[in-house]
Amino acid sequence: MDKKDVIQEGIKEILRSLKNINFEDQTVLVTGGAGFLGSWLCDVLVEQNARVICLDNLASGLEKNISHLLGLENFKFIKHDISKPIHFDEKIDVVMHLASRASPLEFDKFPIQIIKANTLGTWISLGIAKKHGAKFLFTSTSEVYGDAQIIPTPETYNGNVNPIGIRSCYDESKRAGEATCMSYARQHGLDVRIARIFNTYGPRMRADGVYGRVIPRFIHQALNNKPITIFGDGKQTRSFCYVTDQIEGLLRLAWFDSAKGEVVNTGNPEETTILELAKIVKKIANSNSPLEFHPLPPDDPRRRCPDISKARKLLNWESKVELREGLKNTIEWFKLMKVS
Ligand SMILES: NC(=O)c1ccc[n+]([C@@H]2O[C@H](COP(=O)([O-])OP(=O)(O)OC[C@H]3O[C@@H](n4cnc5c(N)ncnc54)[C@H](O)[C@@H]3O)[C@@H](O)[C@H]2O)c1
Repeated sequence: MDKKDVIQEGIKEILRSLKNINFEDQTVLVTGGAGFLGSWLCDVLVEQNARVICLDNLASGLEKNISHLLGLENFKFIKHDISKPIHFDEKIDVVMHLASRASPLEFDKFPIQIIKANTLGTWISLGIAKKHGAKFLFTSTSEVYGDAQIIPTPETYNGNVNPIGIRSCYDESKRAGEATCMSYARQHGLDVRIARIFNTYGPRMRADGVYGRVIPRFIHQALNNKPITIFGDGKQTRSFCYVTDQIEGLLRLAWFDSAKGEVVNTGNPEETTILELAKIVKKIANSNSPLEFHPLPPDDPRRRCPDISKARKLLNWESKVELREGLKNTIEWFKLMKVS
């Protein structure tokens, strides 16, 4: 299987699972569309014959994620920073606002840009949706729960966040983004939907310097037989959702009328320790990498796991792809990327 096939197979699987959920003939603005999740969304929407406008300033996204779509009649790329105003002549039906750097390694390098993308950027995207009478999907994060005291965490949990900590540029700006969405819903009757995305991984995740996300980092280290760097004792847990499941969940959330005005956790409820994850990656990658333990960064949550009862009920959705299967695909893709 070549690297394109891992993604093509994934797209086909998403389309199959979506059944009659179809954005054909709708114009969808995807901010952050050249990023990891955004480019998968663009691919599926283009396949469904939606007209896709991908807006991205390439802060952390890559043009190669969407280069195969450039030139298609129903796809347009606009290089733009969403924290600055922009006007669209064509009628927009759905706005999906994903633009924001999301890697913990970037929290201390670009905190202001992150805050601007999630506050000003959300406000500007909401303004576009309001002007066009479009539906609005905001990609929030499990980070809004901070170091959650209730696990699995339901949407009703209000969070335990340090407002001045190193992660606050991200989690507090996502919280402000959510508040802005709900204010537009209340004051202007806008149709908003909020996804609280839990760790998602898969092909097209970056593993280079700007990315501190654990799965691509472990894979990169394992494939290069470099030490696998674990923060703390590795007993902290995360729950990892494969990209095809996440994209299906997001599109379901954008689709169903019953999801109007709702905030929904999208993620995989299966919890794994970071130490176990390192061992699984090492085994699948057939690597000789030693495990290396480093101090835990401040405000790193001990456990993170979504309660997805609401997504099951409202969207008839749950994650399907097992961690080992998703990791196999992702490692395969990383390997092929290196040799091609
Ligand atoms: N992947 C995850 O596990 C995860 C978890 C929780 C939340 N999310 C959220 O999902 C969204 C997408 O995340 P991702 O994993 O695809 O990350 P990503 O970094 O791959 O994608 C983000 C995209 O937004 C673009 N961008 C950043 N600032 C911008 C700006 N000011 N104007 C225009 N474009 C801008 C980047 O260039 C990039 O293409 C983000 O909002 C993120 O916070 C992701």
